[in-house]
Amino acid sequence: MPKIPDHVRGARFTGWGTALGHKVVTNDDLAKTMDTNDEWVRERTGIQRRHIGGSTSELSAISGAAAMKMAGVDPSSIDALILATTTPDRTVPGTSATVQNLLGLSCGAFDVNAACSGFVYALVNAHGLIAMGAERVLLIGTDTLARITDWTDRNTAVLFADGSGAAVLEATSGRGHLLGWDLDADGSAEEILYAEIGGNIQMEGKEVFRRAVRIMVDSAQKSMAHAGVTADDISVIVPHQANIRIISAACDRLGIPMSKAAVVLQETGNTSSASIPLALFADLGQTKPKQGDLVLLVGFGAGMTAASAILEWGAQ
Ligand code: ACO
Repeated sequence: MPKIPDHVRGARFTGWGTALGHKVVTNDDLAKTMDTNDEWVRERTGIQRRHIGGSTSELSAISGAAAMKMAGVDPSSIDALILATTTPDRTVPGTSATVQNLLGLSCGAFDVNAACSGFVYALVNAHGLIAMGAERVLLIGTDTLARITDWTDRNTAVLFADGSGAAVLEATSGRGHLLGWDLDADGSAEEILYAEIGGNIQMEGKEVFRRAVRIMVDSAQKSMAHAGVTADDISVIVPHQANIRIISAACDRLGIPMSKAAVVLQETGNTSSASIPLALFADLGQTKPKQGDLVLLVGFGAGMTAASAILEWGAQ
């Protein structure tokens, strides 16, 4: 399990922003075109509505610009852009290049595809760049899953949606906010959740559910051990927003009360790479971290990837 070396240059978030697809689609809207109903979707997933629309680069440009504005930084001061997405606008080039241009950045830009764990994968990579001398990294998680969803398939159409969340990560003089992290993948489980190029998401929902709880708990426990903290020390858990029952089962096994969980999926649905930053940053009235809180980010996704990080909120 990797540990953060002593004396490594630290970082913290100094600004953030979010974006959602412009069209709101309720469960009742979906029930007009497929054999489903609001009660089933709410009870089995927790989702009440979702936001659809926009391309990955468009949503990224909105959340990224808001993050830079809040941080009070000029585009020319960003040293790297990392875009976590599993729904790029094009196969080539990386959508990060499109976003770099839209935002007027003059720095390296690359995509990270780790499905719904993407934002935490990108976060750990961004810390690596800062350890290597970058001052400021713009980190964006965006997915437009509506484009790869079969809107006649009730098994998947009720779950997926579009959104984006971004943060400016800046070097600090002290240890910074990252206390521990974990990145995992199990490619042998690829066939339970995938989309062919040009195709729609195919999913064995029950098997994904079963594995999701196990790998989230495992990754979170590794990060906590790595950081030298326990579940009792965690003030806020920000889990991937796939299904309220997955979040509840994971919290239960970790011994973290649901009252500490940031949950926005009732409003957003599953937005993959955007899901953790939306739960952390979007102004949707949910649990939010305060200065000094220990925050556990934990995601899982196709691959099957899992990723977690422990942040001391606002630490210099
Ligand atoms: N509306 C109404 N009924 C439905 C619907 C629907 N949308 N979908 C399924 N049903 C029916 C089924 O046909 C079944 O009926 P039956 O009992 O007559 O056969 C019944 O409801 C139960 O279906 P299950 O599939 O057993 O439902 P389950 O409780 O497993 O919930 C769900 C399905 C919501 C998909 C759940 O398994 C889940 O959340 N899995 C994880 C999915 C996930 O997280 N995916 C994203 C991964 S992240 C990424 O990388 C994109």
